[in-house]
Amino acid sequence: MNDKPIIVAPSVLSCDFTKIGKECLRMERAGADWLHLDIMDGHFVTNLSFGPEIVDAIARIAHVPLDTHLMVECPDHFFPAYLPASTSIKIHVETKIDVGATLKMIRDNGAECGLALNPGTAFEQVEPFLDQIDQLLVMTVNPGFGGQAFLPETMNHVRKAAAFRVKHRLDFHIQVDGGINAETAAIAREAGANILVAGTSIFRASDSAKAITNLRGT
Ligand code: DX5
Ligand code: ZN
Repeated sequence: MNDKPIIVAPSVLSCDFTKIGKECLRMERAGADWLHLDIMDGHFVTNLSFGPEIVDAIARIAHVPLDTHLMVECPDHFFPAYLPASTSIKIHVETKIDVGATLKMIRDNGAECGLALNPGTAFEQVEPFLDQIDQLLVMTVNPGFGGQAFLPETMNHVRKAAAFRVKHRLDFHIQVDGGINAETAAIAREAGANILVAGTSIFRASDSAKAITNLRGT
């Protein structure tokens, strides 16, 4: 567990895209703290989602921070287009770019920066950057699609991150993303996560407000 506030961020990838604006406002009314925007380029992951113009349109109506998750091969090339709308921008440690330099550029341009790691990536790969980020995004599914099953072994990443944070007196948030519902959120919170991204379990719930409350464990 940890003393950081629980932040719930519905993943817009699971919304009804015929009314994306209304869906984002519905999430706000349901109690969302952030909106999570999954940007996919069809290369880093096999899926293709939406680009900066959609994110800018959401920013024109949203009242909560936008948390942009770049699942793209060249986040150093793409991140500037998302700066105006995003409160936080996440890049993946698995990309073949200069991760440290890109994280610094994101921060230098006024956004919070986050680093994401996939289930199969060794935790040691993110260690050199943990003193330079605001959030560590621990993927609890393999990225690319909503509606996948939570991978329990990813809690090792969360626990290692929580221990590293204490040992090195760091203050980054630990975020989980993929297959998060009331049951898996409790597991992730217990392991040390405080930012909970969820698409299916919130957007497809009969009562999204109740689903968000259940993720908080309150
Ligand atoms: C997957 C995305 C997740 C996903 C979450 O690559 O990063 O944010 O949309 O959707 P659910 O909660 O349905 O797994
Ligand atoms: Zn995501």
